[in-house]
Amino acid sequence: MPQQEMYILPALETEPDFEALYLGVRGLEQRIYTDEQLRQLPQIAPSHVHYKEWQIRKRSSERLVTYLAKKKKPLAILEIGCGNGWLAAKLAGIKEAHIFALDVNEVELEQAKRVFKKSNLQFFEGDFSDQYFVGLKFDVIVFAAAIQYFSPLQNTLAEMLQYLAEDGEIHLIDTNFYTQQTVEGAKRGTHDYYQKLGYPQLAAHYFHHRLDELAGLNYKVLVNPNSLKNRLLKDSPFYWVKINKSVA
Ligand SMILES: C[S@@+](CC[C@H](N)C(=O)[O-])C[C@H]1O[C@@H](n2cnc3c(N)ncnc32)[C@H](O)[C@@H]1O
Repeated sequence: MPQQEMYILPALETEPDFEALYLGVRGLEQRIYTDEQLRQLPQIAPSHVHYKEWQIRKRSSERLVTYLAKKKKPLAILEIGCGNGWLAAKLAGIKEAHIFALDVNEVELEQAKRVFKKSNLQFFEGDFSDQYFVGLKFDVIVFAAAIQYFSPLQNTLAEMLQYLAEDGEIHLIDTNFYTQQTVEGAKRGTHDYYQKLGYPQLAAHYFHHRLDELAGLNYKVLVNPNSLKNRLLKDSPFYWVKINKSVA
């Protein structure tokens, strides 16, 4: 059986949990990769259905890696919602970095462990509330295409800031942010999309964060998809936001 067809949601009598719903949609969206494809990501064949998106993600991941490598110091990096681990593996290429990568999605995490074996890369299965990291401080915490599964945004970030070193940074990459004007339309779009796929319950796990929810935090937008430069270059449809601890 080809790997893309393996994760079909079984008929369940009880309400399926997030992981079952998420994997069902991933399968339908053709986002479950073979080990060979995963090893190459973000490179993928031009004929692949998500080739264009991977070109965007290649640019944003290279930007993040270059940015962090310039710090030229040992970095403890936590990626939350690492999925199949492709980005965590790229981050592990940074000199003197140690990567801790966490996800609730056991199927893709097992694949990540199988495909990416590096001495400075560790995968953890579970939710952040499982408290694997109590007492630890990270130099960098990354959510890549993942913050939309966490809510409320402000509580999530407040919790993350407690795990951040004094000069540490949270990076939200490959992320959509909305405005008061666009958020309701986006919610309806997501609801209709999951409904059409046959997974309406997943909409309850997908959150549409607004940029103004970051007010009060020490943050900087490093890539704004709506900037003139970005629109002219058609560089990225996603935000890249950096959050530091507040200066007292
Ligand atoms: C769209 S994927 C992004 C995966 C990867 N970061 C990437 O850039 O390709 C979002 C991931 O967040 C994970 N996730 C959602 N809620 C989570 C939670 N509470 N704790 C850890 N991971 C979570 C999902 O299982 C999924 O693998």
